[in-house]
Amino acid sequence: MHDDSTDRIFDEIVEYPDPEIKRRYNRLVGLEVMKARLVKEAMMRLQPSSLEDWSQRHFKESLPALAYFQRRPPLFVLAGDVGTGKTELAETFGDEVARKTRIPILLHSLSLTARGTGAVGEMTRLISAAFGILKSQAEPVANDTRANAGHILLIDEADALAQSRESAQMHHEDRAGVNALIRGIDDLAEGRRPVLIVMCTNRLSALDPAVVRRAAATFEFTRPNAEQRRMVLRYAFPEHICSESEMTRIVELTGESSKLGVGFSFSDLTQRLIPSVILAAYPDHGISGDLIGTIASQTKPTPAFTGE
Ligand SMILES: Nc1ncnc2c1ncn2[C@@H]1O[C@H](COP(=O)(O)OP(=O)(O)OP(=O)(O)O)[C@@H](O)[C@H]1O
Ligand SMILES: [Mg+2]
Repeated sequence: MHDDSTDRIFDEIVEYPDPEIKRRYNRLVGLEVMKARLVKEAMMRLQPSSLEDWSQRHFKESLPALAYFQRRPPLFVLAGDVGTGKTELAETFGDEVARKTRIPILLHSLSLTARGTGAVGEMTRLISAAFGILKSQAEPVANDTRANAGHILLIDEADALAQSRESAQMHHEDRAGVNALIRGIDDLAEGRRPVLIVMCTNRLSALDPAVVRRAAATFEFTRPNAEQRRMVLRYAFPEHICSESEMTRIVELTGESSKLGVGFSFSDLTQRLIPSVILAAYPDHGISGDLIGTIASQTKPTPAFTGE
C-alpha cells in the first residue's frame, strides 16, 4: 500500500532528544508522578538487561515474575479534563527517556486523518498499517541487551478510535477498528518490542473496556490547584511585575468559585490569560498585578468536559 498511505498514517515523526522539547517537558507543572512512571516504564522496556541485572543482583537468578512484566501491554492511558497537559506530556516525555538511556526515541503520532474517511474497511486498514510499520521498525529486544532505538505510538483523542464496542450506535466498521487496535496492542506486547503506546482522551468511560483493561496504568489529569496556578503564573510574571499579595489575589480569581464553577485549566492560563495580558499591555503600557487581575476577572474558564 505504502508510499501514499504510509504518509497519511502518522504525523511528522519527532526524534528525541531535542532541546526545545526538553524545555516544554520541564515547564509542565504538577505531573511529577506521571512523569516518573512513564519514564521508568520506558527505561525498563528499552533496557531489559538492566532489569535482568537487578534480578541477578538481588536474587541471584532471573525471576520468573520478570516475564509477566515484560509481556504486559506497554499501554498508558492519559485521561481527564481539557487543557490539563495530556497531549503535552505525551509529546515530551520521550525526550527525558532519550536523555536518561542515551537511546534515541521516535514519536509516531497517529494522525487525525488516520481516523479514516468513513469508507468501509478504511479505519481497520489504517490501524493495522500503523502497527505494521511500528513492528517493522521496532526490533524485539532480548533479555540481556538494550534497544538501539525506542518508539512511542501516540493515539491522541483516542475516544474517536477506541470507542466502546458496547455502544449501541457503533458502526460495524468501527468495531472492526477497535478489534484491530486490540490485536495491535497485544502483538506489540508479546513481541517484547521497544514501544510504548500512549492514548489520550477526555472521556475514559467512552474507551472500550478491553482497551482500558490492557493499560499498564491509567492517569487522571485535573485542573491546577492554587499552588500549581501560582507556579504557572509566577513563571510568566515574576515578582518585579506582580507582588506576592497581588499574585495571591490572581490565584484566587482563577480558582473554583460559586460564580464561575470550575477554575481555570492549565491551558486557560497559558493560552488565554497570559497572552491576553500581553496583548492588553503592548505596545504602550507595562504589565502590573492590577492589569493581570482585571484580565483574569474578565476571562471565563473553559467549561469542564462532560461528554457530548
Ligand atoms: N501541567 C501543566 N503545566 C503547565 N502547563 C500546562 C500543563 N498542562 C497544560 N499546560 C498548558 O496548556 C497547553 C495545552 O495542554 P495540552 O494540549 O496538553 O492539553 P490536553 O490535556 O491535551 O487537552 P485536550 O483534552 O483539550 O486535548 C499546553 O501547551 C501548556 O501550555
Ligand atoms: Mg490534547
